[in-house]
Amino acid sequence: MYEAVGLSYNESKKSLIHSRLAPRIQRLGLGGFAEYIAILDDVSQAAEFQMAVDLLTTNETYFFREPKHYELLERELMQRRSKTPLSVWSAAASFGDEAYSTAMLLADMQTQGRVGPDWSILATDISQRVLLSAQEAVYPNDRLRAVSPERLRRYCLRGEGPMEGQSKLQDKICTRVEFGQLNLCKPFDGLGPFDVIFLRNVLIYFDPPTKIDVVDRVLATLRPGGLFFLGTAEGRVPCKTPLQTLQPGAFRKAP
Ligand SMILES: C[S@@+](CC[C@H](N)C(=O)[O-])C[C@H]1O[C@@H](n2cnc3c(N)ncnc32)[C@H](O)[C@@H]1O
Repeated sequence: MYEAVGLSYNESKKSLIHSRLAPRIQRLGLGGFAEYIAILDDVSQAAEFQMAVDLLTTNETYFFREPKHYELLERELMQRRSKTPLSVWSAAASFGDEAYSTAMLLADMQTQGRVGPDWSILATDISQRVLLSAQEAVYPNDRLRAVSPERLRRYCLRGEGPMEGQSKLQDKICTRVEFGQLNLCKPFDGLGPFDVIFLRNVLIYFDPPTKIDVVDRVLATLRPGGLFFLGTAEGRVPCKTPLQTLQPGAFRKAP
């Protein structure tokens, strides 16, 4: 897990790993962890490996999580003098909530004439399962709890009948986000340059050297002066790339 996807767990996480994987092992009718590890080591069982990664990580996310980051993004974009193209990367996108929240913000700003029409959002994650769900863009209403009533009206279709309690995002938002599978712990040459990068709430899985390596490689794809967001609780990673702290979890790459 460490070599393949950077997941780093010490001895203290043993019971967590047990509680996450034991039901799966039971479901597969295996004799125990040794048999399961043999499956994970078997390259022809990539789907099970993916399943184990999904079980060991959490995909917790919701729309406009950490709203102060979106407020800062809006303020920063309003200060841009030109309406040049804008490129955003949601680098551990999970079910897409972060990328679609950004799309709602940018769509509003475009309507108000504050950003030009040429903006795009790339959303990547290691999990194929969450990416497939993200592309369907159907969400339980609870996950949209921080979306303003105006944005709900503008960008979401409320489900009825069997879809009661869920909402589907409208095409004008969905079409602005491109999804792709990407492992942050492997090289990702050719990406970028981006103006804004979200790398929120994923570093928790990595050990300190991996965190620094991932952050520096991600920051290499950010334009000088670009905005970089980490989860507020994640603190500041001692990366080599010079960063200016703007507010908790929000940074600007040195120009
Ligand atoms: C808690 S979610 C964060 C979602 C969103 N960024 C947010 O803050 O709401 C963490 C995501 O990181 C993804 N992840 C874990 N390891 C990864 C890796 N090595 N490369 C890319 N994504 C990874 C997981 O699949 C999960 O969807």
